[in-house]
Amino acid sequence: MASVEKGKGRVCVTGAAGFVASWLVKLLLSKGYVVHGTARVRQPEDEEKYGHLTKLEKASDNLKLFKADLLDYDSMFSAIKGCHGVFHVATAMPSTAISNPEIELVEPAVKGTLNVVKACVEAKVKRLVLVSSIVAVGRNPNWPKGQVMDETCWSDKEHCKSIKDWYAVSKTQAESEATEYAKRSGLELITVCPGLILGPILQSYANASTLVLLKHFKGGSDCVENTKWMMVDVRDVAEALLLGYEKAEAQGRYICTAHDINTHDLVDKLRSIYPHNDYPNKFVDVEEEINLSSGKLQRLGWRYRSLDETLVDSLKSYQHAGLLD
Ligand SMILES: NC(=O)c1ccc[n+]([C@@H]2O[C@H](COP(=O)([O-])OP(=O)(O)OC[C@H]3O[C@@H](n4cnc5c(N)ncnc54)[C@H](OP(=O)(O)O)[C@@H]3O)[C@@H](O)[C@H]2O)c1
Repeated sequence: MASVEKGKGRVCVTGAAGFVASWLVKLLLSKGYVVHGTARVRQPEDEEKYGHLTKLEKASDNLKLFKADLLDYDSMFSAIKGCHGVFHVATAMPSTAISNPEIELVEPAVKGTLNVVKACVEAKVKRLVLVSSIVAVGRNPNWPKGQVMDETCWSDKEHCKSIKDWYAVSKTQAESEATEYAKRSGLELITVCPGLILGPILQSYANASTLVLLKHFKGGSDCVENTKWMMVDVRDVAEALLLGYEKAEAQGRYICTAHDINTHDLVDKLRSIYPHNDYPNKFVDVEEEINLSSGKLQRLGWRYRSLDETLVDSLKSYQHAGLLD
């Protein structure tokens, strides 16, 4: 793709009010893009859900919210029509307890992504940037222990099913089917695969990854698993998505992680910044040791901030949102 001229593009962001998408919308508006944001069943006027977007600088002129559901092709096409680029950030997730994850979780996630890819092809979009996950890269029990994984690695779906990691199945299948469809249709597709995304929230409620940090910050259980986390700041993910869109030479997949840390070290770090909390004090080692490289993304020009900055800013924003009460 010829480099997108900054400040001149019209782009669509799916699930605009979510944690990652909100930061991406903020970044795109600050760069002068006109943004079509998709929002689901609630009214776009809903202040609690979308107020943080409509208050962003330049939003009154350059942000248009479209009511659209990933599972409703026509609604997605209406939001995407007329855009040069699309950032598919949302993922269709069930909002209630489910009994059949293959039908109720995996199928909608894949169908939602394919609806976006098809709408991009029909609307002659120049480039689609898709948010996948490291769970679509690193879940492979046959990979040699300790060997670094790169973008050629794909999670083993049958293994993910056997350990009932339905989210990993959904992200792996959605990304691989989107890649195949885009290849067949001549659509430029860039996928970004982030690790656990932390950092300040713009929205007023906690998403799933925010809850991971809150759980360890608030304590409440003595003993926790000493999981290895691959973390990245939400603001750096937004920058990675923009690089994937703007850089003419961008191609294929990009792993997007910045800091590897296990739960024990994370808790020690939190304790050193906020000493007066009730933290877990027993850690059970778990058998999972994968190493991923974000080298390809760094060669595209991506940089990331320190983990301390991410943690401090995250907790300040949770305080501001009343999530620490
Ligand atoms: N957070 C992480 O640690 C992490 C790590 C790796 C990858 N990711 C990926 O990053 C992306 C964003 O995650 P996030 O943490 O920002 O999630 P989030 O805050 O929960 O936002 C998800 C968004 O998806 C939208 N959505 C759900 N079902 C939909 C449907 N059927 N139609 C339209 N929109 C729908 C939601 O819309 P409503 O506002 O209408 O509910 C919400 O805006 C996802 O693709 C996720 O898999 C996240």
